[in-house]
Amino acid sequence: MKEINVAVTGGAGQISYSLLPRLISGETFGPDTKVNLRLVEIPQVVDKLEGTIMELVDCGFDQTGSMLATADIKEGVDGADWVLLVGSIPRGIVIDGKKIEERSDLLKINGGIFTDQGSAIGSLANKEAKILVVGNPANTNALIGKKHANNDSQQWFAMTALDANRAKAQLALKTGSDITSVSNMTIWGNHSPTMYPDPYNAKINGTSAAEVINDKKWIENEYLPLVQQRGKAVIDARGASSAASAANAAIDTVKAVENVTPENDSFSAAIASDGSYGVPEGLIFGYPLRTTAPGKVEIIQGLELNEFAQSKIQITTEELLSEKEAVSDLL
Ligand code: NAD
Ligand code: LMR
Repeated sequence: MKEINVAVTGGAGQISYSLLPRLISGETFGPDTKVNLRLVEIPQVVDKLEGTIMELVDCGFDQTGSMLATADIKEGVDGADWVLLVGSIPRGIVIDGKKIEERSDLLKINGGIFTDQGSAIGSLANKEAKILVVGNPANTNALIGKKHANNDSQQWFAMTALDANRAKAQLALKTGSDITSVSNMTIWGNHSPTMYPDPYNAKINGTSAAEVINDKKWIENEYLPLVQQRGKAVIDARGASSAASAANAAIDTVKAVENVTPENDSFSAAIASDGSYGVPEGLIFGYPLRTTAPGKVEIIQGLELNEFAQSKIQITTEELLSEKEAVSDLL
């Protein structure tokens, strides 16, 4: 069997509880790859990982490799092929008497985590390591981590696949279609309420979803806000932020990067802008992506953006620029 080293921060958190079994079950990296897991937690919680590891052993998967629990990020990411940065504080909790309402409120709290983690990854993870930031605010955390990694052979992503899955599911529900008939969903920009889920370039059985639905009011006044605010709706209903669906989206992202994208489809994640679609270079921006060979990801060019789309992309770009400004001391 081949072997792959996967580091996961926040290993004792609620997303990881759904994520870890699927990383080592053969589902994500295939039946012929053993997965060595390196779980990273804060010192106060690291002992709990022993219980998680017991459960993972008890799953009895063929593909389970070695497992390590550590509070030392350097030990965790040493030799890692994939690093899933889940560890951070979710919103919905109360800190110093103030409820954390928006993901951007987490900027200062979580941003600091990604400086040391970034430099450890840059110097110790594999040359072609892939890094997926799940912890919020994901795009700007990835910006901070990538800056401190200072290693351009590694590829950083911030997760927008959960938004894309939500956006596809709502189109399928609205049209009574099977979700497998919905393709080419792009989440432009930030993983925040300014994101732009693009129903014009998304397709249902190969036709523009907006054309199939033919209801501009629904798209603008119901569909967009529903997808943009879905994270909050889950928190309000569940009393905790999305976990199973977030773990599922992280698995989807890893698989999308590891496998060539099917002809006529794309996937969604945020990566460093190279200036495509007029977005300032370097911002970690949600784009339409395609994998051309395992691990080789490119931005799909030439999608048509109508005036509505352009105005939405402008708004989310401005938000990302202001987040960048707010953490300038960490950059
Ligand atoms: P959680 O509180 O259940 O778990 C987070 C874990 O991270 C905790 O166990 C905590 O001890 C650990 N942690 C904190 N700081 C750490 C550090 N410096 N190093 C290692 N571990 C650390 O939270 P959760 O529900 O698992 O969510 C994790 C993050 O993911 C949150 O920021 C949440 O907002 C975000 N999230 C993102 C998406 C997305 O689509 N991008 C979706 C859902 C949740
Ligand atoms: C989500 O979209 O569910 C996560 O980003 C959690 C949150 O704070 O909304």
